[in-house]
Amino acid sequence: MEQMRLGLVGCGGMGTRHIYGMHQLAQTPFNNIELCALCDVRRENAELAADEAEKLLGARPEIFTDLGEMARRMPGLAAVDVVTDPSAHHTVVCAALQLGLHVMVEKPMAITVRGCQLMLDAAHQAGRILSIAENFRRDPSARLANHLIRTGAIGSPYMGLFHSLAAGNHIFITPWRHQRDKGGFILDLGVHFTDLIRYQLGDIVEVYGDARLVEPIRHKPEKNYSNYKFYEQRFAAMDDQIDADADDTTQAVFKMANGATVNWLVGSSGHGGTSGECILGKDGSIQGFGGRGGTISLKQRGQEMTHEQILAAHPDFTMDPLTAHMFPSGISRGDPNTDLKLLAYQQHELAAAVLDNRKVEVDGIEGLKDVAAIYAILESSSLRRAVTMTEIENGDADLYQQPINQNLGIN
Ligand SMILES: NC(=O)c1ccc[n+]([C@@H]2O[C@H](COP(=O)([O-])OP(=O)(O)OC[C@H]3O[C@@H](n4cnc5c(N)ncnc54)[C@H](O)[C@@H]3O)[C@@H](O)[C@H]2O)c1
Repeated sequence: MEQMRLGLVGCGGMGTRHIYGMHQLAQTPFNNIELCALCDVRRENAELAADEAEKLLGARPEIFTDLGEMARRMPGLAAVDVVTDPSAHHTVVCAALQLGLHVMVEKPMAITVRGCQLMLDAAHQAGRILSIAENFRRDPSARLANHLIRTGAIGSPYMGLFHSLAAGNHIFITPWRHQRDKGGFILDLGVHFTDLIRYQLGDIVEVYGDARLVEPIRHKPEKNYSNYKFYEQRFAAMDDQIDADADDTTQAVFKMANGATVNWLVGSSGHGGTSGECILGKDGSIQGFGGRGGTISLKQRGQEMTHEQILAAHPDFTMDPLTAHMFPSGISRGDPNTDLKLLAYQQHELAAAVLDNRKVEVDGIEGLKDVAAIYAILESSSLRRAVTMTEIENGDADLYQQPINQNLGIN
């Protein structure tokens, strides 16, 4: 199979996982990627990632600390996979596009809506592909929920509920996830959920939101939960406590273009938590929007069907060849490599778009809408009124984002 030469930019925690994703892809008959170069402003992070790549993929990629040099020195480099922290996404992605490279960038597309707009303009001017690595919708459970909605299994959806509220005051993976101008927790985690909500129910038109910072001091967790060497080293170097200024708890109502409403409760703070997801339709309901490693169930006429029973009752549900190869049972739950397989899917999709002139599913416009939906909650809370998605997506309501944009010089 023809392979696209790819560079990875940003070799931290998730960058390392992307290499494990390429390893998953390399084990399938669909491998269309050759990882030839790594770039990180911190050379030691790129070195660690190169060790992983050599071990997993059998060849050691070249190491760079400068993107421009990487593009000049790597013949045939077609695209980059950008996995830096979100505050650098717009700078790195715009530079890559201007160098003539196609780009996949991790979610959130950018630190603010303005950052997303700059990236969209750069992709348009360069005539290059811009793909957003949003993985939750690629899970078989999200595909199945989407199939049920599209084929009318629950009739017209009129209401949804998306609750993911964890208790606690620990540092969530990295200190930057608690800093507003680095991409706070609600943006970083929440875009997965706004993307899922939009994937299942279509565009959002209006938002009323409330946002709070409940835990202004965050503490180092007792234990590191990942055995990747990068995460171990970072955990060892982490301060015992940090100051947080990014909101950590949000509540909102989304009004959708199709007339449905979605009730949102997302955060990680305080002493109580709750979780639950459902999509209510005129003729039934789906428990769950789907998502990484998830399952759903279907209620119709007083009967509940499990994920397995839905699959058996809906033989018309099919998955693309790579997903079907990686998840032959149609269920990702319990598969320890689910996260890595979804990354493999996204990497394959980018290379297929470059090599075979195909479209990517989550492009810059989709990525901007996901980021804008999060800022709609935060802007609504600042302005103490409901906001329209049009004013958020156009940048006309940006009180919350202004200081972030000013700090980054992109206002
Ligand atoms: N899809 C998912 O499930 C998922 C999970 C975790 C993280 N992420 C996303 O991945 C991205 C990275 O998160 P992370 O946890 O790996 O962060 P991280 O802090 O562990 O790593 C970021 C890396 O980027 C490097 N970097 C920063 N600026 C750079 C630049 N200008 N050029 C080159 N390298 C640069 C840093 O030195 C660091 O090595 C974020 O956008 C995050 O939201 C996604």
